[in-house]
Amino acid sequence: MSKVLYVKANPKTRENSYTFKMSEAFVDEYQKANPKDEITTLDLYQEDIKPLTAEMIGELFTQEDSDVRRYVKQFANADKYIIAAPMWNLSVPAILKVYIDYLVVAGVTFKYTEEGPVGLLKDKKVTYLVARGGKYSESPAQDFEMGERYLRTILGFIGITDFTTVSTELTNVLQGEELEKSVAASIEEAKRGAKEF
Ligand SMILES: Cc1cc2nc3c(=O)[nH]c(=O)nc-3n(C[C@H](O)[C@H](O)[C@H](O)COP(=O)(O)O)c2cc1C
Repeated sequence: MSKVLYVKANPKTRENSYTFKMSEAFVDEYQKANPKDEITTLDLYQEDIKPLTAEMIGELFTQEDSDVRRYVKQFANADKYIIAAPMWNLSVPAILKVYIDYLVVAGVTFKYTEEGPVGLLKDKKVTYLVARGGKYSESPAQDFEMGERYLRTILGFIGITDFTTVSTELTNVLQGEELEKSVAASIEEAKRGAKEF
């Protein structure tokens, strides 16, 4: 049995978020294919997660029993991650960055060695689902895309290198039937991905 952590980083609902249309389809399909697996949802907006204060940083980095470590403990305890976050200003919503600041903790998710830092999370995998208003999966705009690149890099830093992205693009450009078709194709891609996840 795998433990799956589903991290949601969008204030919108399923009905008006293309990201969530994909991610909810992914989660439903995954659960169908893996009925015994336990999926825990962490909605960062409902959680009302706050940026780290100076006091919290002190606790996070030094106190094993601190409540500030609850997110990193939960994260390290999972086997698989589903991250649903739209493209905002070429990257991820700030709330997801806030959450990541709770996760990158020396001695818990990475360690320093003489050869440099080494990730401690092993044999884990992540699927990142993202809706983007424009098209960033191909040049020339590819270089401006910093959400997927950031997540891939920071999760790689803590040891998670099995990283897959499912995106739907041009949500602010396409209209009507064309948009519907494009999103439907991305939802199908998400469902296929869920079966293999
Ligand atoms: C605050 C904000 C910033 C955005 N920044 C970008 C951007 O930099 N590039 C882009 O292509 N679309 C941008 N968009 C458009 C969203 O990526 C697009 O509407 C997408 O469908 C949002 O995902 P959702 O439907 O799951 O909410 C932005 C939207 C918002 C609300």
